Amino acid sequence: MTVELVSHSSLHTQRLGERIAREARPGDVIALWGELGTGKTVLARGIAEGLGIDEEEVTSPTFIILHEHSTGRLPLFHLDLYRLATSDLGSTGWEECLDAGGVTVIEWPERAGDALPPDRLDVRLAHIAESKRGVVLEPTGPRSRELLEGMRLDAPGA
Ligand SMILES: Nc1ncnc2c1ncn2[C@@H]1O[C@H](COP(=O)(O)OP(=O)(O)OP(=O)(O)O)[C@@H](O)[C@H]1O
Ligand SMILES: [Mg+2]
Repeated sequence: MTVELVSHSSLHTQRLGERIAREARPGDVIALWGELGTGKTVLARGIAEGLGIDEEEVTSPTFIILHEHSTGRLPLFHLDLYRLATSDLGSTGWEECLDAGGVTVIEWPERAGDALPPDRLDVRLAHIAESKRGVVLEPTGPRSRELLEGMRLDAPGA
């Protein structure tokens, strides 16, 4: 099961994040794949907003790999592994948040290598035009499949 759509604006991408958040349960992992500037952080902001976290709290982490937000319906762990050197893998302890009962959103998941959990919602963002992004949502296990199904992206108004 794969859902493909086109986002026509950053607001559209943000709304998609809110929709993910509404269905999210403790332990869910969302991996955001895509080149620089494709909208990973915009989507993460939407997820935050959907969990009831002030979206302005969500920034593009610079040297901080993990941001934890505890003011929403569920804790949100926002990880940006861009600056995680392969040599640091395993020593930063970022994987601990995967088992902490929150929602984990990972930018640059390719840096995680084998530490990426087997059941996660993969979201692939691609640049199409100035304000258009291709979005492919693909679950990799039973829980993420339920998450995607629960989003009902086939429903009118989705
Ligand atoms: N349809 C769209 N969806 C998401 N962002 C869009 C869209 N159209 C334009 N944008 C713009 O693209 C930029 C996306 O930036 P963002 O920081 O979310 O990217 P990123 O994938 O997190 O990049 P990085 O790899 O540097 O972290 C924003 O300036 C946003 O306004
Ligand atoms: Mg980002």
